[in-house]
Amino acid sequence: MQKIISHNEYETIKIGERIASKLKKSDIVCLEGDLGAGKTTLSKAIAYALGVKEHVTSPTFTIVHEYEAVIPLYHFDVYRIDDMDEMFEIGFEEYIYGEGICLIEWADKIKELIPENSIWISISYGNNIDEREIQINGLPEIDFIQSERK
Ligand SMILES: Nc1ncnc2c1ncn2[C@@H]1O[C@H](COP(=O)(O)OP(=O)(O)OP(=O)(O)O)[C@@H](O)[C@H]1O
Ligand SMILES: [Mg+2]
Repeated sequence: MQKIISHNEYETIKIGERIASKLKKSDIVCLEGDLGAGKTTLSKAIAYALGVKEHVTSPTFTIVHEYEAVIPLYHFDVYRIDDMDEMFEIGFEEYIYGEGICLIEWADKIKELIPENSIWISISYGNNIDEREIQINGLPEIDFIQSERK
């Protein structure tokens, strides 16, 4: 497990880029953290770093957005899911057992559907308004050095 402190949005974006560089096809990246923690900020940075050219927006109402990149990206926000059947209706199994990368915001809401060995990233609030603690499980360590702070 790796713990990184992000001091501002810019640092979270840099951390997202480093995470993206470690991802490979079929990876499942689960994001958890309170409202406004930075899950979408991190997801967008990962998406652009994977080579997504389209504008990335939060899939809050549509549950999933699909993007073409070197590896296809499936970006989920499952905040609104309260019945696991809804996930099967949108074809979740095909996504998670597919060749693309799945990035799932609020993955803790569908924990029972998440395969073991998935990558988990938890973002929590820190001591001041822009500080976040980012915990990464299941991924090789990323090198994020504080000299990159803006
Ligand atoms: N260190 C930081 N890292 C990420 N975001 C930060 C940081 N500091 C401040 N912010 C701000 O926090 C907000 C994060 O919003 P974001 O939409 O990424 O959160 P979220 O976890 O996806 O929330 P939701 O669950 O509501 O979708 C943004 O307004 C961003 O500017
Ligand atoms: Mg979000």
